[in-house]
Amino acid sequence: MYKQQLIETANSLVAADKGLLAMDESTPTCHKRFEKLGIPQTQEYRFAYRELIATTPGLNESISGAILYDETIRQQTSKGIPLVSVLMNCGIIPGIKVDAGAKALAGHPGEKVTEGLDGLRDRLTEYAQLGAQFAKWRAVITIGAGLPTPGCYAANAHALARYAALCQEAGLVPIVEPEVLMDGEHTLDRCFEVTEEAIRNVFQQLYQQRVLLEGIILKPNMVLPGLDCPTQESVEEVADATIECFQRAVPAAVPGVAFLSGGQSSELASARLNAMNAKYKSKVPWALAFSFARAIQQPAMELWAGNAENTQAAQKALYHRAKCNRDARQGKYDSESDANNGS
Ligand code: 13P
Repeated sequence: MYKQQLIETANSLVAADKGLLAMDESTPTCHKRFEKLGIPQTQEYRFAYRELIATTPGLNESISGAILYDETIRQQTSKGIPLVSVLMNCGIIPGIKVDAGAKALAGHPGEKVTEGLDGLRDRLTEYAQLGAQFAKWRAVITIGAGLPTPGCYAANAHALARYAALCQEAGLVPIVEPEVLMDGEHTLDRCFEVTEEAIRNVFQQLYQQRVLLEGIILKPNMVLPGLDCPTQESVEEVADATIECFQRAVPAAVPGVAFLSGGQSSELASARLNAMNAKYKSKVPWALAFSFARAIQQPAMELWAGNAENTQAAQKALYHRAKCNRDARQGKYDSESDANNGS
């Protein structure tokens, strides 16, 4: 029913070398990040921070869409304008996180499955009325001894596909996020195997649930060595492995691959995205975009630190990181000038 609208929205999200800003931290996650910086963990500060982001001058030059959290999509600025309208007025498409978080997967110690399918149809209808044009659901896959199991791949892929089908029924583009976590000592090769398997499972389920591939965005991890792996491959090796993996597993009908940052430093995330685009942009069938939370927000949050006087400096830092990633989509990100001019 919404076929044309879904295709148009999905393409707009990755058009003009822009990308997505994830600002959809659940309240506990937002508080964890505030706590580290000594920012009070209250509704007032959560709002001040989200308003700071949404009102950053020029953010729309690099950001096509922003992923909001349930609390944020209902909020208005201090001038009484809904945050959704602030975003839409400058051409940023509002989206919404709709999963209810990753919970322990029964019978599978150490593994998780994402919940939130119950009642999702009604919630999607409400979010669409509030102005959301796309949605996000994150599944997490852990690499460890004997993990992931086939049961974990299957359960998460099935939930992602059920979510994606419901989104499309409501006219919302589903951001399909199977995240293979970076934690651990595993090698890049192991991450490659697991990422390929996870993505193959996801597309098999998307097909079975009759999801229109032209109307989704895939939000995967990059193929990386574990954070504690003694061998850390170069930026170019990561770019090569990631593209090789996705060429095998991601259908050409998908308009965009928008990477999550997953705990990489802001600079590394930009450098790796840049390397992929510099070498492969014209050779792969999908846009190589970004959908970062930490890798765009972290320097800005640190500068703000809960102090209204720092708002402008924080907005400049946010603008800068967003622009670095737009540059990376064009293969013209310069890590040296980032280090010198950065926030
Ligand atoms: P990070 O870029 O911080 O990994 O967050 C992306 C995201 O939206 C996770 O669901």
